[in-house]
Amino acid sequence: MLTELSDHPIVAHHITTLRSVETTAEPFRKSAAAVTRMLMLEASKLLELERVIVQTPIEETEGAQLNGNVVLVPILRAGLGMLESCLEILPTASVGYVGLERDEETAVARCYYSKMPPLETADHVFVIDPMLATGGSAAQSIEQLKSLGAKRITMLCIIAAPEGVEAVKEQHPDVAVFTGVLDRELNDQKYICPGLGDFGDRLYCT
Ligand code: PRP
Ligand code: URA
Repeated sequence: MLTELSDHPIVAHHITTLRSVETTAEPFRKSAAAVTRMLMLEASKLLELERVIVQTPIEETEGAQLNGNVVLVPILRAGLGMLESCLEILPTASVGYVGLERDEETAVARCYYSKMPPLETADHVFVIDPMLATGGSAAQSIEQLKSLGAKRITMLCIIAAPEGVEAVKEQHPDVAVFTGVLDRELNDQKYICPGLGDFGDRLYCT
């Protein structure tokens, strides 16, 4: 499994804005969108190209175009804060949704919704969720996608805990994880430390 950490200063800047307890919903949404754009650009380097011939106004030349379908799968709710930025970069992608919510006592995620477009083995599927904490939500979503036929899956998150990366690595060694930052650890409530608190609550003012 490939785990890629961003070392881009723009990503670090926006993650600091997301972390701050002073950041209100509007700048939080803008920073989430900005950091996602940077991460998606990086993660999309895994996409395959096919050679094509293109006619310019001057002459014919060799070019390249993306080969195969891309499917974006935000994990509700927090993943919705990343979806529009991913679609800016991959505007022809199909979109599937997985609704998962962690139990507040056990931190085990329960699936309450799922709606997927048809999946082909050649499709490249990006699971998008800003927080990779225990890894339970990510691993469960990936399992579901594999059972529907997905073979090429990449996970995109903004903040990951070492425990979450390990869990995904163990259960899905074929899945690459792209993250803005790797934080220190989980606390007793399975929140990422230092983290940013509850991403969904901060995004939607709940
Ligand atoms: C958060 C977050 C992830 C999950 C990560 O969702 O958006 O989906 O927790 O935790 P895990 O790695 O331990 O599974 P939450 O359950 O709070 O639901 P919400 O997005 O609806 O707020
Ligand atoms: N989900 C969040 O939103 N934040 C965490 O720190 C862990 C899970």
